[in-house]
Amino acid sequence: MSKIKKTKQQHTILQKLKWRTGILFAVLLSIILLSIPKAIPQQPVVLSMLMTAPDAQPWKQGIIKDFEAKNPGIRINLIEGPNATNLLEDLYTSAFILGDSPYDLVNMDVIWGPKFASAGWLLDLSDRLTKEELTAFSPKDVEAGRYEGKLYRVPVRSDVGVLYYRKDLLKQAGFEAPETFADLLKISKSLKEQRKVNWGYLWQGRQYEGLAAMFVEVLQGFGGFWVNPDNLEVGLDKPETLKAIAFLKDTIQEKISPPGVTTYIEEDTRRIFQSGQAAFLRSWPYVWPLANAEDSPLKGKIAIKPMVATPGNSAGACLGGWGLGISKSSKHPKEAWKAIQYFTSEEAQRQFILKSGYVPSRRSLFTDPQIVSKYPHYPQLLEIADQAVLRPPIAQYAQASDILQRYLSAALTNRMTPESAMQAAASETRLLLKAKG
Ligand code: GLC
Repeated sequence: MSKIKKTKQQHTILQKLKWRTGILFAVLLSIILLSIPKAIPQQPVVLSMLMTAPDAQPWKQGIIKDFEAKNPGIRINLIEGPNATNLLEDLYTSAFILGDSPYDLVNMDVIWGPKFASAGWLLDLSDRLTKEELTAFSPKDVEAGRYEGKLYRVPVRSDVGVLYYRKDLLKQAGFEAPETFADLLKISKSLKEQRKVNWGYLWQGRQYEGLAAMFVEVLQGFGGFWVNPDNLEVGLDKPETLKAIAFLKDTIQEKISPPGVTTYIEEDTRRIFQSGQAAFLRSWPYVWPLANAEDSPLKGKIAIKPMVATPGNSAGACLGGWGLGISKSSKHPKEAWKAIQYFTSEEAQRQFILKSGYVPSRRSLFTDPQIVSKYPHYPQLLEIADQAVLRPPIAQYAQASDILQRYLSAALTNRMTPESAMQAAASETRLLLKAKG
């Protein structure tokens, strides 16, 4: 009897224990479940973007940090690529050709838009910005981001070729800033003879995209042209082109430019200029804050002006610049657009421009009081930018530029005569435009 009672009691205790364990288990489970989101925070969306190494520095110092602080759920993975824009373009191109691009944001040079858009690599951004919003940007920068009437790229910074000169040395020697190619050669020779400088004039002569950008300016100054985008006429075998090449060759022959100039890209020329060895430099506005830095021997000694031209022709300033698009294969187009909106906003641009000395893409910033007090030459830059010459905005630009770079480099380094080099360049370009056109 007592045995039966005992078993009954044990059974009830067991039952109770089961219940309690059940309740305890349920409570523990809900505690665990409730605490999971706290223990494993939500993974931020990572947007990858590739840019040239020198460009990456000002991005890292400012706008990326500000954007991430304002958008805790988004991180920017900035990948630093090679310095030359065409090498960066090759990286983007091979990534797109191989399949899904690893880049969400596509940081595009002003000349890539038509190629990237026609290949179908970019999202159409036409309905993201109103006409009024677009009028805040320089029209040529916006145009560069359009293809067949649709918008694929929003300008994040503009760029324009300028002529830097040593205002201190020119003043001491009693020279005005040069207006013509002949002035440039004359002043250079004189300053060299007086041993004020080792070199007169520095330009980008390596076989790369910068050679084409520099050349359109000299070409314009001699009244020539490369490709007319309206009728696809090619001007490379015209006498003006040969005069432009003759000028560049003269600078080397007369030792106004160093013999190595045909291997230089922007940074090579900036370093020589900034060390005080040359009177003139053709480059982009990014040089200004570097050459005027506290530790620069050129601080306060330089000025800019539009490139020189022959009398009667207008000076050429090549339009450069960078803008952002979204890769069609990006898994985060919403976040990518948020980033573009921020990076191209007036507030972000002001900080970015103040830090980097780049050319703004928003017109109002050229005369912004804060910017002008740091960079008094910006209103002048706007005038130069408004006159800027475009490299031909055609979908086959990369191939056309490659042809020009190859033959121009052959002419400058005496591997071909300028005449035969330009005849070959012109006929290859015509074939290219006919085949694709
Ligand atoms: C600058 C310009 C770009 C140009 C390049 C050439 O980065 O912004 O448009 O293609 O220089 O080297």
